[in-house]
Amino acid sequence: MLKGYVLVTGGTGYIGSHTVVELLNNDYKVVIVDNLCNSKALVVDRIEKIAHKRPDFIEADVRDKEKMREIFKNYPIDAVIHFAGLKAVGESVEKPQLYYDNNIGSTEVLLEVMKEFNCKNIVFSSSATVYGNPKRIPIFEDDPTGEVTNPYAETKVKIEIILKELAKIDSSMNIAILRYFNPIGAHKSGLIGEDPNGIPNNLMPYITQVAIGKLPFVHVFGSDYKTKDGTGVRDYIHVVDLALGHVATLKKLEQNPGLVIYNLGTGIGTSVIELIEAFKMANKIDIPYRIEGRRPGDIDECYANCDKAFREMGWKTKYNMVDCCKDSWNWQSHNPKGYEE
Ligand code: NAD
Ligand code: UFG
Repeated sequence: MLKGYVLVTGGTGYIGSHTVVELLNNDYKVVIVDNLCNSKALVVDRIEKIAHKRPDFIEADVRDKEKMREIFKNYPIDAVIHFAGLKAVGESVEKPQLYYDNNIGSTEVLLEVMKEFNCKNIVFSSSATVYGNPKRIPIFEDDPTGEVTNPYAETKVKIEIILKELAKIDSSMNIAILRYFNPIGAHKSGLIGEDPNGIPNNLMPYITQVAIGKLPFVHVFGSDYKTKDGTGVRDYIHVVDLALGHVATLKKLEQNPGLVIYNLGTGIGTSVIELIEAFKMANKIDIPYRIEGRRPGDIDECYANCDKAFREMGWKTKYNMVDCCKDSWNWQSHNPKGYEE
């Protein structure tokens, strides 16, 4: 068990907040750094309510090197989990430089400061998006990456390259690249969850906003994909399972493995229609939808082979689609306006 602190960048965000809860539940000491560009400080209170412990929180931009140096001076940091980043694919096409600066820039600063303070362990939030349009399904970790079509995905590919180079030149570093598939759901308490700005881009928050009456129906983007029912197929993973994957990864890094790369998904492909039907059934709420044209850039199918994470870390998912749908709705129905009180 690490004796010092775990620094969680982006720890007030959707995946970060759930991970901080599980870290505290597992007796890790946590300090969060977040600039609140896509989250609220109130999240820290909610985390405390769930975990009965309060993580330290510092409002700062990870690109602010002096501030980061100060944090490393004040806390004995043994490991970093680096969630901080911008993640909206559409926005990245409009503002590519913002994405390069924020996502790649923050990682570079973080790695420099870690080096200065001799911090050897980092977990990076990568994405299934690095596989682009996958050559085979399910996707294995050693399948090709890099043929991507938007700046957001490019930042993930570039950061993976930086981390792989670092692993080559510094064998004392322990680096975990985690490629997340599609996180949905929320903590059982309904106190933390996903709180997108404006109209959601992703399917599950769109469904929950239809369920609550904020939006009239779901636009199903395309029904002519090469999939079981023609709609897009993805690997939806409960966010708490994903959070627990980070706890397992920290334990793995304690064994000094050098560079490791894991898919974090369920291994199950679910279509858009199947997700809508599962939500309706789990929550007994009707979800009207309309089939429309494809969304540019979307692929047919994307789901993971997750055997490696189980083999090497003993991690596998424990929540199913019913849990995902119930917990997403529990969060949305108790927080119709998200974190806005
Ligand atoms: P999120 O937006 O909820 O959380 C990211 C957090 O980082 C936010 O709280 C934001 O305020 C903060 N942040 C952004 N830039 C920062 C900076 N420069 N300095 C300090 N804080 C900064 O997103 P999330 O869904 O929790 O995603 C977390 C990570 O996982 C991201 O790197 C994302 O790219 C990756 N990821 C997410 C998904 C997904 O579908 N949610 C899938 C694959 C990978
Ligand atoms: N979809 C709809 N209607 C919507 C939203 C989505 O039909 O309103 C469909 C999409 O076409 C796709 C599926 O639902 O077939 C899932 O779409 P999401 O936008 O929820 O998720 P994506 O798989 O497109 O992308 C997400 C994140 C990416 C991340 C990727 C990892 O947005 O940043 O998962 O697998 F890289």
